[in-house]
Amino acid sequence: MAGEAEQQLRAYVDYLRDIGVHDFYRRGEPVHAEISPTPPTAVEAAGVVEELEAAPVPSRPAFLEPPIATLVSFDDLAPLPESRVTPEHKAEALAAIKEDIGDCTRCPLAYAGRRTIVFGDGDANARLMFVGEGPGADEDTSGIPFVGKAGQLLNNMIQAMGLKREQVYIANVVKCRPPANRVPEPVEANTCDQFLLQQIDVVQPQVVVALGATAAMYLLGVKQSLSALRGRWHRCRGAKLVVTYHPAFLLRDPRMKSEAWKDLQMVMGEMGLKAPAKG
Ligand code: URA
Repeated sequence: MAGEAEQQLRAYVDYLRDIGVHDFYRRGEPVHAEISPTPPTAVEAAGVVEELEAAPVPSRPAFLEPPIATLVSFDDLAPLPESRVTPEHKAEALAAIKEDIGDCTRCPLAYAGRRTIVFGDGDANARLMFVGEGPGADEDTSGIPFVGKAGQLLNNMIQAMGLKREQVYIANVVKCRPPANRVPEPVEANTCDQFLLQQIDVVQPQVVVALGATAAMYLLGVKQSLSALRGRWHRCRGAKLVVTYHPAFLLRDPRMKSEAWKDLQMVMGEMGLKAPAKG
């Protein structure tokens, strides 16, 4: 555990260094306290308080200001593009976003043991898009989202809806694996979400399914429980959005699969999909 914490700390330090923060602690003049052999009297102590109150407040460096800590829905992050990418150009437009990401070092995850940037997978013209949290170990190795155990369950969910995996588009809030599969930090998600936003704008799905609380929180810009967000339609970048349980959660608590199925049935109703006949 200490090793992981150390790795994360190193990742943040490397990241700060790379964005040019070398004097993080040198904001304003340091306040030197005189060490006195006897405790200060009440009058002396009051004088120190007055002095400290009069001292100028050092300004916070700009990169610590919002939006890093602010939740903004994808609809409020940027206006919808004036001209939409046409179906024949969507694959090319996705490739351009991938190229823009490049060998990304925009956030600390680049330094935290990531092997592969997991961009997204599926049909550029999909009517249905799934958004997860971030790659796990299997995805980090393969470069493809949702290929591990949770991915196998997601594949089954897609099939149960009468679709093939190749017919949908799948992406994550962050494109690099968080160490030990922890939840992405706000600075990581808020740095990466510009790319997910562009992917949604290119694919222009009819329906987005947010898989789990992290996807729901960043797509909708609200921090609410899944139960408060499930069972109703939301909007996201011109698409209808529904929130359901993350497949990894369903693997841990299979009793909730019937609840997730209710969410998927809402999607099927909206899209005119029929479950395949059992046989
Ligand atoms: N969990 C996610 O949220 N995304 C993946 O790609 C894999 C597991």
